[in-house]
Amino acid sequence: MKRFINIALPKGRLGEKVYGMFEAAGFECRDIKENSRKLIFENSELGIRYFWVKPSDVAIYVERGAADIGVAGKDILLEYSPDVYEFLDLNVGRCHMAVAAKRGFVDDKSKTLRVATKFTNIAKKYYSSLGRDIDIIHLNGSIELAPILNLSDVIVDIVETGATLRENNLEVVEKFEPISARLIANKSSFKFLSDKIEEIRTGISKQIAKD
Ligand code: PRP
Repeated sequence: MKRFINIALPKGRLGEKVYGMFEAAGFECRDIKENSRKLIFENSELGIRYFWVKPSDVAIYVERGAADIGVAGKDILLEYSPDVYEFLDLNVGRCHMAVAAKRGFVDDKSKTLRVATKFTNIAKKYYSSLGRDIDIIHLNGSIELAPILNLSDVIVDIVETGATLRENNLEVVEKFEPISARLIANKSSFKFLSDKIEEIRTGISKQIAKD
C-alpha cells in the first residue's frame, strides 16, 4: 500500500496562502476548503495528508516525524534550532526580526539593556554578537507593551508592516534578520520519501513569486 506523505501547515492566513501553492502545484485536497473545525484532511488518490498545526508547533511535528514535511517561519527555526532539513524558501510570510523601542530612545551603554521578547535565543545571540550585556524578559505576546510600561528598554520582535509599532509610538532601532516561510522535512522522511519530496519541491518552486 502506498505510504501517505504527512504535511504540517501553519494554521491561519499564511497557511491558507501556502496551501494555495500546494494546490496550484497539483497537490490538492478539496475538503480542506470546507469551513470546518477539522484539523486533518487527506487525498487518498494522491497519497497526501495535511494537518493544520499552530504555526510555532510545525517544526516539532516535523522533527519528531509526526509530519514528513511542513511549513515553518524562519523565526521559529532560528529560535528553536529543530533537527530538520530546511529545503526551500517559499518567499511568503516575509518580515524582519527587529529591535524596536519608544520613539527617540537612546541606548545608555553603561547600563544593562532590558530586552523583552518571545524570541529569547535570537535576542541573546544578536546582543552577544554585539558584546552588549542584556537582561532578557520572556513574554508570550503583545510584546509592544513592554517598553510603553517600562518593563523593558527595547523589544526584539517580528516587524511586518510596522503598523503595530507605529500605533504604539514605537520605532524600529534595527532590522537584523529577514524572515520568511520555509519548507522543512523530517530527516529520515527526507531519505525514505525522497522522490515524493523532490516532486513537491519542484512543483512548489514553480509557484514561488519572484521579485
Ligand atoms: C506579530 C508581532 C507584532 C506584529 C507585527 O504579532 O509580534 O506584534 O505581528 O506586524 P506588523 O508590523 O504588520 O504590525 P502576532 O500577530 O503574531 O501576535 P503576538 O502579539 O501574539 O505576537
